[in-house]
Amino acid sequence: MGNRHCLTMTQDLLEKALPIQRSSGSGPEFELQIKGLSKVFRSNGDAIAALDRVDLNIRRGEFVSIIGTSGCGKTTLLRIIAGLESEFSGRVELEGRAITGPGIDKGVVFQDHRLLPWLTIDDNIGFGLVQRPEEERREITQKYLNLVGLGKFGKAYPGQLSGGMAQRAAIARALVNNPKILLLDEPLGALDALTRRYMQQELEKIWVREKATTVMVTHDVDEAIYLSDRIVLMSSRPGRVKKILSVALPRPRRREHSDFLAIERELLQEFELQAKDLITYEI
Ligand SMILES: Nc1ncnc2c1ncn2[C@@H]1O[C@H](COP(=O)(O)OP(=O)(O)OP(=O)(O)O)[C@@H](O)[C@H]1O
Ligand SMILES: [Mg+2]
Repeated sequence: MGNRHCLTMTQDLLEKALPIQRSSGSGPEFELQIKGLSKVFRSNGDAIAALDRVDLNIRRGEFVSIIGTSGCGKTTLLRIIAGLESEFSGRVELEGRAITGPGIDKGVVFQDHRLLPWLTIDDNIGFGLVQRPEEERREITQKYLNLVGLGKFGKAYPGQLSGGMAQRAAIARALVNNPKILLLDEPLGALDALTRRYMQQELEKIWVREKATTVMVTHDVDEAIYLSDRIVLMSSRPGRVKKILSVALPRPRRREHSDFLAIERELLQEFELQAKDLITYEI
Protein backbone atom coordinates (compact mmCIF):
# COMPACT_ATOMS: atom_id res chain seq x y z
CA MET A 1 0.00 0.00 0.00
CA GLY A 2 2.80 2.36 1.06
CA ASN A 3 4.67 1.62 -2.13
CA ARG A 4 1.65 2.10 -4.27
CA HIS A 5 0.97 5.47 -2.66
CA CYS A 6 4.58 6.43 -3.29
CA LEU A 7 4.28 5.51 -6.98
CA THR A 8 1.08 7.50 -7.36
CA MET A 9 2.73 10.50 -5.75
CA THR A 10 5.69 10.21 -8.08
CA GLN A 11 3.41 10.05 -11.11
CA ASP A 12 1.45 13.01 -9.85
CA LEU A 13 4.62 15.00 -9.24
CA LEU A 14 5.95 14.10 -12.65
CA GLU A 15 2.83 15.30 -14.36
CA LYS A 16 2.22 18.45 -12.36
CA ALA A 17 5.42 19.75 -10.80
CA LEU A 18 8.34 18.57 -12.91
CA PRO A 19 9.13 19.83 -16.38
CA ILE A 20 7.45 16.96 -18.20
CA GLN A 21 4.34 17.54 -20.25
CA ARG A 22 2.25 15.19 -22.29
CA SER A 23 2.18 16.51 -25.78
CA SER A 24 -0.28 15.70 -28.49
CA GLY A 25 2.03 17.51 -30.91
CA SER A 26 -0.12 18.73 -33.76
CA GLY A 27 -0.08 21.97 -35.71
CA PRO A 28 1.40 23.53 -38.80
CA GLU A 29 4.91 24.19 -37.44
CA PHE A 30 5.97 20.57 -37.70
CA GLU A 31 8.74 19.57 -40.08
CA LEU A 32 7.97 15.87 -39.95
CA GLN A 33 4.37 14.72 -39.75
CA ILE A 34 3.38 11.10 -39.29
CA LYS A 35 -0.31 10.30 -39.32
CA GLY A 36 -1.95 6.90 -38.86
CA LEU A 37 1.18 5.01 -39.91
CA SER A 38 0.77 1.24 -39.95
CA LYS A 39 3.15 -1.34 -41.36
CA VAL A 40 2.60 -5.08 -41.77
CA PHE A 41 5.41 -7.40 -42.87
CA ARG A 42 4.38 -10.55 -44.69
CA SER A 43 6.70 -13.51 -44.80
CA ASN A 44 5.97 -17.23 -45.34
CA GLY A 45 2.24 -16.64 -45.12
CA ASP A 46 2.57 -14.90 -41.74
CA ALA A 47 1.61 -11.27 -41.19
CA ILE A 48 3.66 -9.34 -38.64
CA ALA A 49 2.13 -6.03 -37.58
CA ALA A 50 5.22 -3.92 -36.93
CA LEU A 51 3.55 -0.50 -36.53
CA ASP A 52 -0.03 0.33 -35.72
CA ARG A 53 -1.54 3.77 -36.29
CA VAL A 54 1.49 5.76 -35.22
CA ASP A 55 0.92 9.52 -34.98
CA LEU A 56 3.94 11.71 -34.39
CA ASN A 57 4.81 15.29 -35.27
CA ILE A 58 8.31 16.67 -34.96
CA ARG A 59 9.30 20.34 -34.93
CA ARG A 60 12.10 21.85 -36.94
CA GLY A 61 15.36 21.56 -35.00
CA GLU A 62 13.87 19.25 -32.38
CA PHE A 63 15.80 16.27 -30.95
CA VAL A 64 13.40 13.35 -30.48
CA SER A 65 14.31 9.89 -29.19
CA ILE A 66 12.32 6.74 -29.84
CA ILE A 67 12.62 4.10 -27.16
CA GLY A 68 10.90 0.76 -26.67
CA THR A 69 11.59 -2.92 -26.26
CA SER A 70 13.27 -5.00 -28.95
CA GLY A 71 11.03 -5.71 -31.93
CA CYS A 72 8.55 -2.88 -31.22
CA GLY A 73 9.12 -1.31 -34.64
CA LYS A 74 11.69 1.44 -33.98
CA THR A 75 13.93 0.60 -36.94
CA THR A 76 10.89 0.10 -39.16
CA LEU A 77 9.67 3.58 -38.22
CA LEU A 78 13.07 5.12 -38.95
CA ARG A 79 13.38 3.25 -42.26
CA ILE A 80 9.98 4.54 -43.35
CA ILE A 81 10.97 8.13 -42.49
CA ALA A 82 14.24 7.57 -44.38
CA GLY A 83 12.23 6.49 -47.43
CA LEU A 84 13.70 2.99 -47.34
CA GLU A 85 10.32 1.26 -46.96
CA SER A 86 7.62 2.04 -49.45
CA GLU A 87 4.76 -0.26 -48.44
CA PHE A 88 2.83 1.10 -45.49
CA SER A 89 -0.47 2.78 -44.77
CA GLY A 90 -0.89 6.27 -43.38
CA ARG A 91 0.90 9.53 -44.14
CA VAL A 92 4.54 10.45 -43.64
CA GLU A 93 5.46 13.98 -44.71
CA LEU A 94 8.64 16.01 -44.60
CA GLU A 95 7.91 19.74 -44.87
CA GLY A 96 4.40 18.93 -46.03
CA ARG A 97 5.49 16.58 -48.84
CA ALA A 98 5.02 12.82 -48.82
CA ILE A 99 8.28 10.92 -48.42
CA THR A 100 8.64 8.81 -51.54
CA GLY A 101 12.18 7.45 -51.26
CA PRO A 102 15.64 8.01 -49.82
CA GLY A 103 17.41 11.27 -50.66
CA ILE A 104 20.04 13.76 -49.54
CA ASP A 105 17.45 15.66 -47.51
CA LYS A 106 17.57 12.73 -45.03
CA GLY A 107 20.84 11.79 -43.32
CA VAL A 108 20.87 8.28 -41.86
CA VAL A 109 23.25 6.65 -39.37
CA PHE A 110 22.78 2.97 -38.62
CA GLN A 111 23.95 1.05 -35.56
CA ASP A 112 27.00 -0.21 -37.44
CA HIS A 113 28.86 2.57 -39.26
CA ARG A 114 28.53 1.02 -42.76
CA LEU A 115 31.58 2.88 -44.06
CA LEU A 116 32.96 1.38 -47.25
CA PRO A 117 36.21 -0.34 -46.16
CA TRP A 118 38.00 0.18 -49.49
CA LEU A 119 37.56 3.96 -49.47
CA THR A 120 39.40 6.51 -47.31
CA ILE A 121 37.38 8.44 -44.71
CA ASP A 122 37.54 11.47 -47.05
CA ASP A 123 36.03 9.48 -49.89
CA ASN A 124 33.44 7.80 -47.65
CA ILE A 125 32.23 11.19 -46.44
CA GLY A 126 32.44 12.82 -49.86
CA PHE A 127 30.63 9.90 -51.52
CA GLY A 128 27.31 11.73 -51.65
CA LEU A 129 28.94 14.90 -52.99
CA VAL A 130 30.07 13.48 -56.35
CA GLN A 131 28.09 16.08 -58.26
CA ARG A 132 30.09 18.93 -56.69
CA PRO A 133 33.37 20.30 -58.13
CA GLU A 134 36.44 18.62 -56.62
CA GLU A 135 37.60 21.69 -54.67
CA GLU A 136 34.17 22.28 -53.10
CA ARG A 137 33.86 18.61 -52.26
CA ARG A 138 37.20 18.67 -50.43
CA GLU A 139 36.22 21.77 -48.47
CA ILE A 140 32.86 20.39 -47.36
CA THR A 141 34.35 17.02 -46.43
CA GLN A 142 37.05 18.71 -44.33
CA LYS A 143 34.47 20.94 -42.62
CA TYR A 144 32.47 17.94 -41.44
CA LEU A 145 35.57 15.92 -40.53
CA ASN A 146 36.61 18.84 -38.31
CA LEU A 147 33.11 19.05 -36.86
CA VAL A 148 33.25 15.45 -35.63
CA GLY A 149 36.85 15.81 -34.43
CA LEU A 150 38.43 13.73 -37.19
CA GLY A 151 40.16 16.56 -39.04
CA LYS A 152 43.43 14.63 -39.33
CA PHE A 153 41.97 11.29 -40.35
CA GLY A 154 40.69 11.96 -43.85
CA LYS A 155 43.36 9.79 -45.45
CA ALA A 156 42.80 6.85 -43.08
CA TYR A 157 40.71 3.80 -43.96
CA PRO A 158 37.75 2.72 -41.80
CA GLY A 159 39.71 -0.32 -40.55
CA GLN A 160 42.29 2.04 -39.02
CA LEU A 161 39.73 3.85 -36.83
CA SER A 162 38.34 2.90 -33.43
CA GLY A 163 34.60 2.15 -33.12
CA GLY A 164 33.86 5.64 -31.77
CA MET A 165 35.87 7.32 -34.53
CA ALA A 166 34.16 5.25 -37.24
CA GLN A 167 30.77 6.15 -35.80
CA ARG A 168 31.74 9.84 -35.84
CA ALA A 169 32.75 9.47 -39.50
CA ALA A 170 29.31 7.94 -40.19
CA ILE A 171 27.68 10.97 -38.52
CA ALA A 172 29.81 13.30 -40.68
CA ARG A 173 28.73 11.36 -43.78
CA ALA A 174 25.08 11.78 -42.80
CA LEU A 175 25.52 15.54 -42.24
CA VAL A 176 27.55 16.36 -45.32
CA ASN A 177 24.57 17.15 -47.56
CA ASN A 178 23.05 19.42 -44.95
CA PRO A 179 19.98 17.20 -44.53
CA LYS A 180 16.64 18.50 -43.29
CA ILE A 181 16.43 15.59 -40.92
CA LEU A 182 19.01 13.37 -39.25
CA LEU A 183 17.90 9.79 -38.52
CA LEU A 184 20.00 7.82 -36.06
CA ASP A 185 19.36 4.14 -35.33
CA GLU A 186 21.17 3.31 -32.10
CA PRO A 187 24.21 5.19 -33.36
CA LEU A 188 26.18 4.66 -30.16
CA GLY A 189 24.92 1.15 -29.37
CA ALA A 190 28.18 -0.64 -30.15
CA LEU A 191 30.40 1.60 -28.00
CA ASP A 192 31.78 0.99 -24.52
CA ALA A 193 30.18 2.98 -21.69
CA LEU A 194 32.84 5.70 -21.43
CA THR A 195 33.14 6.32 -25.17
CA ARG A 196 29.37 6.36 -25.35
CA ARG A 197 29.11 9.13 -22.76
CA TYR A 198 31.75 11.14 -24.58
CA MET A 199 29.95 10.62 -27.90
CA GLN A 200 26.66 11.74 -26.37
CA GLN A 201 28.30 15.06 -25.51
CA GLU A 202 29.75 15.29 -29.01
CA LEU A 203 26.40 14.47 -30.59
CA GLU A 204 24.74 17.21 -28.58
CA LYS A 205 27.38 19.74 -29.68
CA ILE A 206 26.92 18.73 -33.33
CA TRP A 207 23.15 18.99 -33.02
CA VAL A 208 23.44 22.46 -31.44
CA ARG A 209 25.84 23.65 -34.18
CA GLU A 210 23.99 22.11 -37.13
CA LYS A 211 20.45 22.71 -35.81
CA ALA A 212 19.39 19.51 -37.57
CA THR A 213 16.02 18.02 -36.75
CA THR A 214 17.04 14.70 -35.23
CA VAL A 215 15.20 11.42 -34.61
CA MET A 216 17.27 8.89 -32.68
CA VAL A 217 16.39 5.32 -31.79
CA THR A 218 18.01 4.15 -28.58
CA HIS A 219 17.59 1.40 -25.99
CA ASP A 220 19.26 3.57 -23.42
CA VAL A 221 16.93 5.56 -21.16
CA ASP A 222 19.77 7.68 -19.78
CA GLU A 223 20.95 8.55 -23.29
CA ALA A 224 17.43 9.52 -24.34
CA ILE A 225 17.00 11.87 -21.37
CA TYR A 226 20.47 13.36 -21.79
CA LEU A 227 19.89 14.27 -25.45
CA SER A 228 16.20 14.67 -26.20
CA ASP A 229 13.68 17.48 -26.25
CA ARG A 230 11.04 14.77 -26.33
CA ILE A 231 11.07 11.03 -25.77
CA VAL A 232 8.61 8.78 -27.59
CA LEU A 233 7.99 5.56 -25.73
CA MET A 234 6.63 2.79 -27.94
CA SER A 235 4.66 -0.24 -26.88
CA SER A 236 5.28 -3.54 -28.60
CA ARG A 237 3.31 -5.97 -30.74
CA PRO A 238 2.32 -4.03 -32.67
CA GLY A 239 4.39 -0.88 -32.18
CA ARG A 240 2.30 2.05 -31.02
CA VAL A 241 3.14 5.39 -29.45
CA LYS A 242 2.47 4.73 -25.80
CA LYS A 243 3.64 7.97 -24.25
CA ILE A 244 5.50 11.13 -25.18
CA LEU A 245 7.56 12.93 -22.54
CA SER A 246 8.99 16.41 -22.91
CA VAL A 247 12.35 16.94 -21.23
CA ALA A 248 12.67 20.62 -20.40
CA LEU A 249 15.95 20.44 -18.49
CA PRO A 250 18.73 22.92 -19.36
CA ARG A 251 21.65 21.65 -21.44
CA PRO A 252 24.17 20.17 -20.99
CA ARG A 253 22.13 18.03 -18.63
CA ARG A 254 23.26 16.85 -15.25
CA ARG A 255 22.49 13.22 -14.65
CA GLU A 256 22.44 13.68 -10.87
CA HIS A 257 19.71 16.37 -11.14
CA SER A 258 16.57 15.25 -9.30
CA ASP A 259 14.35 15.97 -12.35
CA PHE A 260 16.64 13.88 -14.56
CA LEU A 261 16.40 11.01 -12.09
CA ALA A 262 12.61 11.36 -11.83
CA ILE A 263 12.18 11.06 -15.60
CA GLU A 264 14.54 8.09 -15.60
CA ARG A 265 12.46 6.39 -12.89
CA GLU A 266 9.25 6.96 -14.82
CA LEU A 267 10.67 5.51 -18.04
CA LEU A 268 12.19 2.51 -16.28
CA GLN A 269 8.85 1.82 -14.62
CA GLU A 270 7.19 1.80 -18.03
CA PHE A 271 9.77 -0.67 -19.28
CA GLU A 272 9.17 -2.93 -16.29
CA LEU A 273 5.43 -2.87 -16.99
CA GLN A 274 6.10 -3.73 -20.64
CA ALA A 275 8.44 -6.57 -19.69
CA LYS A 276 5.67 -8.00 -17.49
CA ASP A 277 3.22 -7.77 -20.41
CA LEU A 278 5.69 -9.52 -22.68
CA ILE A 279 6.20 -12.39 -20.24
CA THR A 280 2.44 -12.81 -19.85
CA TYR A 281 2.14 -12.77 -23.64
CA GLU A 282 4.76 -15.52 -24.06
CA ILE A 283 2.98 -17.84 -21.57
N1 LIG B 1 12.06 -7.27 -43.41
C1 LIG B 1 11.25 -7.81 -42.49
N2 LIG B 1 10.48 -8.88 -42.78
C2 LIG B 1 9.64 -9.41 -41.87
N3 LIG B 1 9.50 -8.93 -40.62
C3 LIG B 1 10.24 -7.88 -40.26
C4 LIG B 1 11.16 -7.25 -41.18
N4 LIG B 1 11.76 -6.20 -40.54
C5 LIG B 1 11.24 -6.18 -39.29
N5 LIG B 1 10.33 -7.17 -39.13
C6 LIG B 1 9.54 -7.43 -37.92
O1 LIG B 1 8.91 -6.22 -37.53
C7 LIG B 1 8.97 -6.05 -36.13
C8 LIG B 1 9.67 -4.75 -35.80
O2 LIG B 1 11.03 -4.84 -36.19
P1 LIG B 1 12.06 -3.65 -35.98
O3 LIG B 1 13.36 -4.06 -36.57
O4 LIG B 1 11.45 -2.39 -36.46
O5 LIG B 1 12.15 -3.61 -34.39
P2 LIG B 1 13.07 -2.71 -33.43
O6 LIG B 1 12.17 -2.02 -32.49
O7 LIG B 1 14.00 -1.90 -34.24
O8 LIG B 1 13.88 -3.85 -32.62
P3 LIG B 1 15.38 -3.78 -32.02
O9 LIG B 1 15.30 -2.92 -30.80
O10 LIG B 1 15.66 -5.21 -31.67
O11 LIG B 1 16.29 -3.26 -33.08
C9 LIG B 1 9.66 -7.28 -35.57
O12 LIG B 1 8.68 -8.19 -35.14
C10 LIG B 1 10.42 -7.84 -36.75
O13 LIG B 1 10.52 -9.23 -36.67
MG1 LIG C 1 16.09 -1.87 -34.47
